[in-house]
Amino acid sequence: MKREALSIKYDHDRLLILDQTLLPFEENWINVTHPDQMFEVIKQLKVRGAPAIGVSAALSMALFAKSEMNADDFIAKANHLRQSRPTAVNLMYALDRLIATAKENYSAEFIENEAIEIFDDDVQLCDSIANHGAALINQGDVILTHCNTGGLATAGVGTALGIIHKAHTQGKGIHVYVDETRPLLQGGRLTTWELEKLGIPFNLICDNMAGMVMQRKKVDKVIVGSDRIAANGDFANKIGTYALAVMCKHHNIDFYVAAPMTTVDMDCPSGKHIPIEQRDPFELKGVRGHYGEIQWAKDEGVDAYNPAFDVTPAELVTGWILDTGVYDRETIKKLCAVVSV
Ligand code: MRU
Repeated sequence: MKREALSIKYDHDRLLILDQTLLPFEENWINVTHPDQMFEVIKQLKVRGAPAIGVSAALSMALFAKSEMNADDFIAKANHLRQSRPTAVNLMYALDRLIATAKENYSAEFIENEAIEIFDDDVQLCDSIANHGAALINQGDVILTHCNTGGLATAGVGTALGIIHKAHTQGKGIHVYVDETRPLLQGGRLTTWELEKLGIPFNLICDNMAGMVMQRKKVDKVIVGSDRIAANGDFANKIGTYALAVMCKHHNIDFYVAAPMTTVDMDCPSGKHIPIEQRDPFELKGVRGHYGEIQWAKDEGVDAYNPAFDVTPAELVTGWILDTGVYDRETIKKLCAVVSV
């Protein structure tokens, strides 16, 4: 069985992950042979973006099933892998599907089939999101986006960036502002890389320019992705998203979140229950990457607070663009109530 995405390649006995920490200057594929290695790959953001994390984790478990004969040990390994990143619920969703398969009938073949289905589902989910979202985009719209939500972050065309891509291919003449997305620069490094490849016109801005751009330039819509949507519509996304939503309210700009149903956590009643990942304070004290390492704040005496995500309350969201359609605040709550029954 063979599958390929922008950042994931799976070919029966081989799983390759594009190291996103080295982009855009180096395209280096990591050969992942074991879920313990995948744990580190996810933790270090070599693979990142909620759907891509789930799909990659599942494929690493499919490889593991080929050598692990014991279902309980397989399940224990899957439960360990869940802990690699706490906020992206797609990781839990994918591993839960494999655990359920293992409990029902444990075999390498069934596990691999399920992992491949998780990959294929994500491709479909992205296409549906792109179709629903592109219908909201008007001719000549200027769209601001945050972090990276494209092909690198999913097995398919992406979520928010998938919509942007679709609208571009429909000839809508859109322009994009890309937040660089401190501290790890997923916008500056990854979204620019994708937009350039796709030929979509854009400007890179740093995060603290977003307010000025909204005030002085034309911004019609902000569209972002999500790592977890609670049942009341509150959602977690890359740190800085909440501030964008607040600024949209002030400037009367439509603010949309785009995600597959696999990002909706029906068991999570509201945003305050979403676990927020805290990361290494070094990420705020300097930068480390293909460009080397520079540190501007001291290790000692500087106490950095580094949450990777924030939560945007539902009241600030114009619409939730899911694979099943576009929802407003009332209909998203109804959808969650129906699905969780
Ligand atoms: O820390 P990251 O890079 O994994 O954060 C990613 C995001 O916040 C994305 O917006 C989200 O996962 C959606 S990706 C389709």
